[in-house]
Amino acid sequence: MLSEQAQDAGQLSTAGQRYCIGIVGAGSIGCYLGAHLCQDNALDVKFFGRETMALELAAHGLSVTSFDHHSYFAQPVAFYSSLNSLIECDVVLLTVKATALVPMLSQLKRFLRPDVPVVAMQNGIGIGEMLNQDLANPVVRAIVPFNVVKSSAGQFHRASAGAIVWQQNSYGVVNYIIQTLQQLKLPVQLCANITAAEYGKLLLNLNNALNAISGLPLLQQLLDRKWRLLLAAAMQEWLSICRNAGVKPLAYTALPNVLLPWFLRLPTAVFRHVAGKMLTIDAHARSSMSDDIRSHKRTEIMFLNGAVVRMAQLQQIAAPVNSVLVEQIKRLESGEAALPIDELLHQAGLKA
Ligand SMILES: NC(=O)c1ccc[n+]([C@@H]2O[C@H](COP(=O)([O-])OP(=O)(O)OC[C@H]3O[C@@H](n4cnc5c(N)ncnc54)[C@H](OP(=O)(O)O)[C@@H]3O)[C@@H](O)[C@H]2O)c1
Repeated sequence: MLSEQAQDAGQLSTAGQRYCIGIVGAGSIGCYLGAHLCQDNALDVKFFGRETMALELAAHGLSVTSFDHHSYFAQPVAFYSSLNSLIECDVVLLTVKATALVPMLSQLKRFLRPDVPVVAMQNGIGIGEMLNQDLANPVVRAIVPFNVVKSSAGQFHRASAGAIVWQQNSYGVVNYIIQTLQQLKLPVQLCANITAAEYGKLLLNLNNALNAISGLPLLQQLLDRKWRLLLAAAMQEWLSICRNAGVKPLAYTALPNVLLPWFLRLPTAVFRHVAGKMLTIDAHARSSMSDDIRSHKRTEIMFLNGAVVRMAQLQQIAAPVNSVLVEQIKRLESGEAALPIDELLHQAGLKA
């Protein structure tokens, strides 16, 4: 049964046209967005992903929930573990992790029609450039500010707020998706300066590595001033690089970006008081990088803190804190233990 909003969205589609949407890399973000898009009759949504996910969705259907109480259910979903049917797609939402992009590129080149826009939804810097270098298709960037976690089999939960930032573009099918999501109560924001949006998101994502290195749940890590000092210093490095590059990163929090390091350095009691609702985090929640380390997967570190280090090198300035963090994540990826916090502060030249 379609919701009223989705019926409205259907009326907005090009007369008689049924767009075919390919969700490529159906995991947390792909399934969450795909379940929304399935609500619209004017869309034929195809999910591409792993066989295990295909079986899970076949058994349980696909349902999504949100902290703001919006939920949708989709069954049956068209799920493919081979990419052959990509040829039918009018647009691709590319939702694999950044580390899976290179092997995915050859598949996209093989099966996708060359005029079909690809929306790259990864966190990190250099994603659009990397895709444009190797793929003839037009690439549009979109940045997801909220967290989605798998809460049970076939069920994905949005745990935080925020509007998806979409690069302004002239592709009818992409703009139709944006409009549909908005009508389904998933906030969207169009952005002319997608570099600013990417850079701003990276500022927040710098904590993914710290959380993984700490081995602590996010809440516990953020309530420890030593970890916050490291994060503040990592952010300061990135803000200096942005300033040198002439980019004002988009702010995703109520506080202006330049105040975030100051805020993090506050004594814990004051920080806890000022942060207020911002610390409404599930007591067990960890960063996705922490989950990747625990599952022995490669992390997105080289697209996050690694990108800070690369840009610092290009600007011929130092980024000692982010360098230390990259090094620690590389240690964890290869099965070694990370250094304790006091040693990390010492290596980064910081005093608690
Ligand atoms: N989850 C969030 O809350 C969130 C928020 C903001 C931004 N993001 C960004 O969004 C991107 C996607 O994150 P995610 O959390 O949705 O990742 P995810 O849950 O790991 O989903 C990606 C899915 O794609 C599959 N996949 C990878 N390569 C494939 C291939 N060649 N063929 C078929 N399937 C393939 C993966 O399977 P395997 O795991 O077996 O490889 C996985 O099921 C990342 O860049 C992330 O940083 C995520």
